[in-house]
Amino acid sequence: MALSVVLGNPATDRHTIAQRLREADGERTAGLFAEADDVRRREVGECVHFRGLIEISNHCRRSCWYCGLRVEHRILHRYRLSADEILACARAAAAWGCGTAVLQSGEDSGLTSRFVGGVVERIKAETPLAVTLSLGERCRRDFLRWKRAGADRYLLRFETSNNELMRRIHPVRRGTAPRRIELLRILRDMGYEIGSGVMVGLPGQTYEDLANDIAIFAELDLDMIGCGPFLPHPATPLGRGRVPLAISLTDQVPADASMALKVIALSRLACPQANIAVSTALSTLDPMAGRERGLQCGANVLMPNFSPSMHRAKYAIYPAKSDVGNNERESPDALRQRTLRLGRSVGSGRGDSPAYRARRAERTATMRESLP
Ligand code: 5AD
Repeated sequence: MALSVVLGNPATDRHTIAQRLREADGERTAGLFAEADDVRRREVGECVHFRGLIEISNHCRRSCWYCGLRVEHRILHRYRLSADEILACARAAAAWGCGTAVLQSGEDSGLTSRFVGGVVERIKAETPLAVTLSLGERCRRDFLRWKRAGADRYLLRFETSNNELMRRIHPVRRGTAPRRIELLRILRDMGYEIGSGVMVGLPGQTYEDLANDIAIFAELDLDMIGCGPFLPHPATPLGRGRVPLAISLTDQVPADASMALKVIALSRLACPQANIAVSTALSTLDPMAGRERGLQCGANVLMPNFSPSMHRAKYAIYPAKSDVGNNERESPDALRQRTLRLGRSVGSGRGDSPAYRARRAERTATMRESLP
């Protein structure tokens, strides 16, 4: 458990977090953002780490009620990059100056364990990049194989800690057992840096649910956090207005930019040393200033898109993603300029989370102590 999770710590206390999420007073909310910005500066510094996002496949076997990649969305054109195509994107990310490639996909059985392992090995051999995988729920054998191939980190959002809501909107696959929060613990024990997050303003999500999510970030001692507003996709049950759980309107979390910013800020207070990304969803909701506002209330990571432009529009988790098409404001160079204009610097190197480095040092020390 994280050191920050001590009894009476307001940053991890569910009741206090819920209160701050419900805060309607502009001045007090500005105070929260300033506090998170201070903690960010003190704990992880002025550097913004750029991760090169590569969307390697939009095939998906799941039926999530929120996501445009769901298997039932039959008119969506599906694609899967070849190993050479992925390597070309990774090289471009490295040449640009990213320290990490993030390989992301739907939950695609066509991405075999061996294929992904081979791609990870090649990226590690042919570039200096750290590799983050974000390929959904897979079996332990796959995770182990990819770790041995050299993968450094795994991202798996648990989406909501309300189990009843999650069961509704994320139907389980037959034969699969552990839930995402357990999977994250398993991944950490395998030596991965682990990242997670939730959607903000899911229909049926209460302030108490969201406060609980943030408290769980601290309990899991996450190395990476990414949260964004829920954006309805018309080809999904939630986008068509299906109600997963009946809750009162006063309890429903709104899916707006200001709530997403509060979640970033409260995540920073709960996990002072984590790497926290500004999501593309926030930038989609607030194209002019979403990235800046995120970086100014706790975040320290951006993930510019290095996927081949011909496929980008097909990675349509939700409509009108801000990094699709020729959106110059979202190009890596533009994001660098936007970062520098805030008085922040752009990180070089892998940008491991300090929490992860501390854990490794602790492990090494314990191993040394146990030597005869
Ligand atoms: N709106 C916002 N975020 C979404 N995601 C999936 N669908 C949506 C949506 N409609 C998020 C989920 C997923 C991540 C890749 O994108 O949190 O884990």
